[in-house]
Amino acid sequence: MVEIRRTVRFAAGLYRRRLDFAFHGYVRRDPMSRLHLRAGRDDPYAIYEELRAQGPLVPTRIGNWVTTSHPVCNTVLRDRRFGVRSAELTVPDSPSDEFDMSFLDRDPPDHTRLRRLAQPAFSPKQVAGYRPRIERQVDDLLDRAAVTGEFDLVPAFAAPLPIAVITDLLGIPDADADRFARVGTLIGSALDGIHSLAHAARLQAANDTLRALFEGLFELRRRTPSDDVISRIVAAEGDQIQPREMLPMCNLLLVAGFETTVNLVGNAVNALLAHPRQWADLCADPAGMAPATVEETLRYDPPVQRTARCALEDVSLAGHTVHRDQFVVALLGAANRDPEVYPDPDRFDIHRTPAADHLAFSSGIHYCIGQSLARLEATVALQKLAERMPDLQRNGPLRRRVSSIVRGPIHLPVLSRTASRRSAARAS
Ligand code: HEM
Repeated sequence: MVEIRRTVRFAAGLYRRRLDFAFHGYVRRDPMSRLHLRAGRDDPYAIYEELRAQGPLVPTRIGNWVTTSHPVCNTVLRDRRFGVRSAELTVPDSPSDEFDMSFLDRDPPDHTRLRRLAQPAFSPKQVAGYRPRIERQVDDLLDRAAVTGEFDLVPAFAAPLPIAVITDLLGIPDADADRFARVGTLIGSALDGIHSLAHAARLQAANDTLRALFEGLFELRRRTPSDDVISRIVAAEGDQIQPREMLPMCNLLLVAGFETTVNLVGNAVNALLAHPRQWADLCADPAGMAPATVEETLRYDPPVQRTARCALEDVSLAGHTVHRDQFVVALLGAANRDPEVYPDPDRFDIHRTPAADHLAFSSGIHYCIGQSLARLEATVALQKLAERMPDLQRNGPLRRRVSSIVRGPIHLPVLSRTASRRSAARAS
């Protein structure tokens, strides 16, 4: 049982934060609870507007706070009087430490120490060097999809790309890549909740397999270091990182790599197909417009819809006092549509020049470490899709992830007739 709880907490904790117990009352009148229902998952933005009408900072039913405001979200995420853990959880060697030691869930100084170790592999300069590999990967995937021209965008294109990139970056040998991909995907499925005891048991088994795979890899890189993230982590063992912190860090990087960019590409294509003129504008200048399309998707329909911070002391905020140990839920998806910051915020417009940065990658010290990588992957993916399949169209209904935190499609059937004709012409 403890093991199952550990799996659940690990995977769910990635982007949920501990306070999510706060959302479990299914009270139809309560906007926060309704975010979990089907209609709320399909269109959380309408619910965010109800909350926005109540003010920039609103108390929740169970004694926390929620904000839809861009400036208030930004303040909470940057203000050092807020942390990711309540004071109770910060007690050294508390039982919770056993469960989640990744730096997403740590406050300084541990957060600073651990993040510094991972950071170099994700610097914009380093990431720019991955471009040729990403381009090759995208071309391979589109070659395969073009054979019939009829494919499911998520499993055939948006999902395999980031999986291949992060396994490469971590230094997972080719021979093990498929096994890492299978278990990583299964663990990532816990972000959408645990559906049954059988699912919990599968997660447990995947967790054990992943641990064994990573421990084997640590051993390999101790003997034969290489130029990759795992080798750097192993080299810092006992110094910058404690042995028990290594697995959580690798799990975080793997699952964050697997489960986020896929939704960015899926949400972008979904928005573009719903706005044919914008798709045409992208196709008219794929290289020029792809970066702006990625940014507008991150603003308009971000893959991570919310996070939260806990007050480490009493804080005055937006005319209220947030007491120590109270959480503030930062609705990133709502902040990105704050009408005070973005004119006509519900309009998807790849030509927008926004006055403020969106919060899709958060803000402050936990600002997404993988943002340059995610942006590059999505930019290459959209650019090449537009170049090679300008007649792309829907070919069936979209199905969404069952999650109110991670937002994106799991199925998006599409069709491109020109791609399949070109592919046939090349083959003959
Ligand atoms: C479109 C894709 C992505 C989105 C929308 C996204 C979003 C986020 C957000 C919102 C946070 C901060 C959560 C908070 O403040 O509580 C975060 C943190 C993080 N992300 Fe991403 N992410 C993406 C891609 C990636 C990728 C490709 C990686 C690479 C492995 C990654 C690794 C991380 C890590 C390690 C953290 C923790 C940073 C810290 O706590 O200092 N992310 N991400």
